[in-house]
Amino acid sequence: MFKKLAFLIVLASMILTACQPAVVATEAPVVDAPAATEAPVEAPVATEAPAKVWTYADMTVGFLQTGSEGGWRAANTASFKETAEQLGLNLKFYDSQNDLAKQVAGFQQFIEDPEVDVIIMSPLEVTGWEQVLKDAAAAGKPVILSDRRIDGFEDLYVTFIGADFVEEGRKAGTEMCKLLEGSEKKNVWELVGNVGAAPAIDRGKGFRETAEACGITVVNSQTANWSVVEGKQVTEAWLKESKDVQGIFGQNDEMAFGAIEALKEAGLVPAVDVKIISVDATAGAFQAMLDGTLNVTVECNPLLAPQVYEAALAALNGETLPKWIPSQESVFYMVDPNLKDIAAGRKY
Ligand code: AHR
Repeated sequence: MFKKLAFLIVLASMILTACQPAVVATEAPVVDAPAATEAPVEAPVATEAPAKVWTYADMTVGFLQTGSEGGWRAANTASFKETAEQLGLNLKFYDSQNDLAKQVAGFQQFIEDPEVDVIIMSPLEVTGWEQVLKDAAAAGKPVILSDRRIDGFEDLYVTFIGADFVEEGRKAGTEMCKLLEGSEKKNVWELVGNVGAAPAIDRGKGFRETAEACGITVVNSQTANWSVVEGKQVTEAWLKESKDVQGIFGQNDEMAFGAIEALKEAGLVPAVDVKIISVDATAGAFQAMLDGTLNVTVECNPLLAPQVYEAALAALNGETLPKWIPSQESVFYMVDPNLKDIAAGRKY
């Protein structure tokens, strides 16, 4: 009996030992480690969908045009419509009818229009844009300024593609100095674009920088809203007061054409008795120079659409652009012997 018990004890200890893991005595007894949290399973990295690469065919542009105030604007509108067709992009065109409130409302419409991917604007005035620019940013719609700049908020638009209007004014002043060189008197009248517009502000600034340096006095300056009719009316009113004027600076061709008509009706010979300088270099200006009634026109290039659409596509593809891409421009002269050939080669 006693032997059987001893056998059972030995057998039991053998069985128990066999269940115990081998523990090297030298090792501190293993203390049950707290259950280790599961090693984080690497969440499968969600493969980022590759960023969309935009093409012109994908792009819907909302374009806010100022209105249709003259030859320059007609050429600018044609540039945007024709180039959109050539590139195969979808263009939604909004005519602001030269009314700032309408242009702001049109901007808001494009922000809310789910089809519009990018907004392009030719701003009627330099201020009044903060809210719609913030709304466009919140809606993730890039904004490109075409033709005219605005005051501030550079962080809220991608880029401004357009002329250096101050330089255009400087060029006009420099040319008026040349035309009046040696003149006993240097009284000049200025016909200004719509109040608050960048070209009106900046051309006036630039003109005074160079004109006043050669002794020119800007005796009269008044808005004629870019138009032939108002340019004539304002000049007629000035002529009723005095004919002591040696030069007229029209901030665009149309206002200069109005002044030319008024001078003729007052018995003065335009470009001879009174020197005339304008800005834009439209087909009408070349004709006036060929007719001998306009001395100089400073070019302001309206054919901006190819550059502007290229910037819009780059913006949609996440590219960073300079805040201003200035357009390149020339000056044209009535006395240029090649004027007829130059005029024949012009696109607008
Ligand atoms: O912004 C450009 C100006 O706008 C042009 O000089 C003028 O003709 C147009 O109204």
